[in-house]
Amino acid sequence: MMNRLELIQKLPKAELHLHIEGSFEPELMFEIAKRNKVNIRFKSIDEIKEAYNFHNLQSFLDIYYEGAGVLLHEKDFYDLTYAYLLKCKEDNVVHAEIFFDPQTHTDRGVSFETVISGIKKATIKAHEEWGMTAHLIMYFLRHLSEEEAFKTLKMSEPFKKDIIAVGLDSSEVGHPPSKFKKVFDEAMKMGYLTVAHAGEEGPPEYVWEALDLLKVKRVDHGVRSIEDEKLLKRLIDEEMPLTVCPLSNIKLCVFEKMEDHNLKKLLQQNVKVMINSDDPAYFGGYANQNYIATAEALDLSNAEIIQLAKNSFDASFMTDELKQSWIKACEAFNE
Ligand code: HPA
Ligand code: ZN
Repeated sequence: MMNRLELIQKLPKAELHLHIEGSFEPELMFEIAKRNKVNIRFKSIDEIKEAYNFHNLQSFLDIYYEGAGVLLHEKDFYDLTYAYLLKCKEDNVVHAEIFFDPQTHTDRGVSFETVISGIKKATIKAHEEWGMTAHLIMYFLRHLSEEEAFKTLKMSEPFKKDIIAVGLDSSEVGHPPSKFKKVFDEAMKMGYLTVAHAGEEGPPEYVWEALDLLKVKRVDHGVRSIEDEKLLKRLIDEEMPLTVCPLSNIKLCVFEKMEDHNLKKLLQQNVKVMINSDDPAYFGGYANQNYIATAEALDLSNAEIIQLAKNSFDASFMTDELKQSWIKACEAFNE
């Protein structure tokens, strides 16, 4: 039998929950800050890493937005994205659906085009170099107004063909999905698919709203759905994917320790969960490190690990043909 670490390394995987701004490693942050002549309040990489001690989502978001503030030019977004794609290559992540937060940048005077062009060019390069595929998902910051989200939606129009879906992120509690129903309706009319963070810190009611009002195709995190039996049944019946991020959940204190994480329970009840890294530069690891930490703490079997990888393709927005071929490649690891 293949050992767990080898299996995790060798399995092809898709990553469906990754904020590109959250893959900003301190080393690259310093380099870009220097070339852009932007001041950052940290004096060293060690000092930055020390600040990455979070007690909830908001304490993380404050630092995450601050870090993203050094990104100014297309090349900055290109370098950021290409660095993430190289990590994917290392981890055998063959497909990524990359989230970006336009408002974090346009509110600082960086154009929508600068952001998306840099990200897009890096994905094209990775495709040319090693055949990796990617989609982009544009996220609205939910602590801002629906009107602001409408402005961002409008800005996205010329780049519509490069964006597969819209989503909702940032501070969850107090900003329910219902706040964005109109703008999601409009986005769907424009042809975008929809996703949303829900049930990370927020209650199961927010997951209901994401399903019923925003018509999401996947729920980001969604781990608090387990508190509501009817909701759980619906997720199972509808084969609704949850893009779970284990290391993120521990770092942001959604669960006290990895042994308490509910991923295995969800998987065993047939909820379509998979493993993702969320904001790997801040939470201590990319895809494989998330798989390893989870598999060890919850004692996942090889069959369960393979199921997670299959779910990652199944829940992706790639073509059915590509999906089936990757699922088959995963199944080849079953003994
Ligand atoms: N939750 C909400 N918003 C975010 C996250 C997250 O985990 N990461 C980046 N923005
Ligand atoms: Zn997230």
